[in-house]
Amino acid sequence: MAVLFAEKENTFTLHTDHTTYQMKVDPYGFLLHLYYGRRTEGCMDYLLTYADRGFSGCPYDAGNDRTYSMDALPQELPCQGTGDYRSPAVVIRNADGSYGCNFRYRGYRIVSGKYRLPGLPAVYARDGEAQTLEIDLEDSVSGARVTLLYGVLPELDIITRSACVTNAGAGTFYLEKAQAACLDFLSGEYDLITFYGRHAMERMVQRTPVAHGAQVIGSRRGTSSHQYNPMLILAGKGTTEDAGSCYAMSFVYSGNFKGEAERDQYDQIRVLLGISDELFSYPLEPSERFWVPETVLSYTTQGLAQLSANLHRCFRTHLCRGRFRDGVRPILLNSWEASYYDFDGTSILRLAEQAADLGVDMLVMDDGWFGKRDDDNSGLGDWRANEKKLGESLSGLVEKINALGLQFGIWLEPECVNEDSDLYRAHPDWAFAAPGRAPVRSRNQLVLDFSRSEVVDGVFRQICELLDTVHIEYVKWDMNRSLADCYSHGTNDQGRVMHDYVLGLYQFLERLTVRYPDLLIEGCSGGGGRFDAGMLYYSPQIWCSDNTDALDQIRIQYGTSFGYPVSAMGSHVSAVPNHQTGRMTALSTRGVVAMAGTFGYELDPGVLTKEEKEEIREQIRTYRQYANLIRNGRYFRLTDPFLETVGAWEFLSEDHAEILVSAVTLEIHGNMTIRYVCLKGLRENERYRDEASGRIYASGALMETGIPLPKEFGEYRAYQMHLIRV
Ligand code: GLA
Repeated sequence: MAVLFAEKENTFTLHTDHTTYQMKVDPYGFLLHLYYGRRTEGCMDYLLTYADRGFSGCPYDAGNDRTYSMDALPQELPCQGTGDYRSPAVVIRNADGSYGCNFRYRGYRIVSGKYRLPGLPAVYARDGEAQTLEIDLEDSVSGARVTLLYGVLPELDIITRSACVTNAGAGTFYLEKAQAACLDFLSGEYDLITFYGRHAMERMVQRTPVAHGAQVIGSRRGTSSHQYNPMLILAGKGTTEDAGSCYAMSFVYSGNFKGEAERDQYDQIRVLLGISDELFSYPLEPSERFWVPETVLSYTTQGLAQLSANLHRCFRTHLCRGRFRDGVRPILLNSWEASYYDFDGTSILRLAEQAADLGVDMLVMDDGWFGKRDDDNSGLGDWRANEKKLGESLSGLVEKINALGLQFGIWLEPECVNEDSDLYRAHPDWAFAAPGRAPVRSRNQLVLDFSRSEVVDGVFRQICELLDTVHIEYVKWDMNRSLADCYSHGTNDQGRVMHDYVLGLYQFLERLTVRYPDLLIEGCSGGGGRFDAGMLYYSPQIWCSDNTDALDQIRIQYGTSFGYPVSAMGSHVSAVPNHQTGRMTALSTRGVVAMAGTFGYELDPGVLTKEEKEEIREQIRTYRQYANLIRNGRYFRLTDPFLETVGAWEFLSEDHAEILVSAVTLEIHGNMTIRYVCLKGLRENERYRDEASGRIYASGALMETGIPLPKEFGEYRAYQMHLIRV
């Protein structure tokens, strides 16, 4: 049994194959957190200690016991107003204007299967793969009820947390903060690993000790953002890729979020991750419910590689959905860096002919095909083909592309609108703008108020008309600005708008996936500005970054890989000099790097030499050979490209029969030292044959001393080695 209730001790214990999570209902009815870590047995309530601590509040019903304070006790759902002065998970503003809530235990249920969240993405499981623990808490004064939800997926070493808040009282109250994931640690030294960045340089890695004073990351941009990814790792001091304990918290949500880590006055650590409380004040009328978005937790004693593997497996097999979850994805050629806005039907068809000649599966027509759209100043919102520009109907063009044996995909940005568009002229109030104020512009566009159902419906109708009449097999769902001026004409409670916007987005995407189950959706937000677990529920791949420079991509993919599987990372070979950095890299290097992702092209083959085209054909053959291993194999980071002179990674098939090792030299110097790349994750006493040289290697030595990279001249050289078990 994954979930156990011990009546005598009043403890709940969640077991996964290698981890245990325990909590206790104390005599006052508070739900205390006892333990999360390596798998263990028995009751851990001896970990709780009590002392009289100055300036730490005590609940009234503790009487004269000054040693009982929520300010020092580890909790499952710390609330503002209980005498705990650390950062809370929940803040409620009551109908009478007072702040505070005091949740006490009421009961529990153990349910087979994994809970689902209405209107929100969440990890799913088949029967027998998961159990759910529901714990009811209540604030007797306001009538606020919380059902805490714990999803336990034993084999994956994953525990998910969410909650449902119900107003069972008589007056409307406001949720001012609502986060389901809190981890309280009584002791220990930990580092916080976060993933920061900027447009075209997403998910860089930062590791800092958790110190006194909170370290806070988050987004107030309405999307999860390029700047901070909604995911945290807490790693023991000495934890490395290969050893040591570490925890992951990944937020399954695509809007504003907040992650906090703080060492408190007693050197205890609290980590929180959930919806941001900024611009959030969510009304709950009597009998209304609020579903708190889910956070995925994982723990391992085996280092960061295992932690990432746990998340990869969970997201790949229990979060991504649809035909393309496991299915082969098309190799696509995207028109963006090939021609930007400067194309017509003839040049797109020429691009398609060349793509077909190279062996590509799909042509994607990026931005510029609709409305009045020859640059990024107009047209967003008018999702009808510009037939004048295309020289014919879109369906006519697609028929010709299909006749070449190519599939066809298209770019959309449904959430945004240009003021210079028919949609905006017809519905200016659909775009966010605060009354009496000029809106903030970004890329000269505004954001549509997806918190309103008529706006979602209106855009949905347009997109359906397009998808119903044209043979479109892929959509790149883009979102090219941060939200601002989020004033909605649809409500008097503006504090709900940022969250309702995300719910509107999810509703749109859900309807799209139900109506077009064979459509492949690739998420995108100026590259990787919304690369989060929430989006993966609807789009099994997300464009990793607008930066297609192979060298930068190595670092971006490295950072991304801590939390997300390779099968999710959109990555393409683009032209040189690279359009974002001006850097020159070999075509082979660009190919090897894009193969650590969904693989495709983002260039104009018309300007390539015969030799380059032949090399691309070969690259495509190589990718097809490894596609399954890359998508479904276990991925290992072999080096840290921020610290080392080689970027290297490995794909190992689940049955250990096959290995693909990729390496790129990041630096070259005179009289260069030899670099050795050590493999990971192999079993002892196995032997592998290098497919190219025929040479046999022993697994022990491959992991211990590794393989020397050839001493070759030239910067940024790439190597790929395919090893087969003998
Ligand atoms: C975003 C995307 C790019 C491209 C452009 C088009 O920046 O990330 O790949 O689609 O929009 O405007």
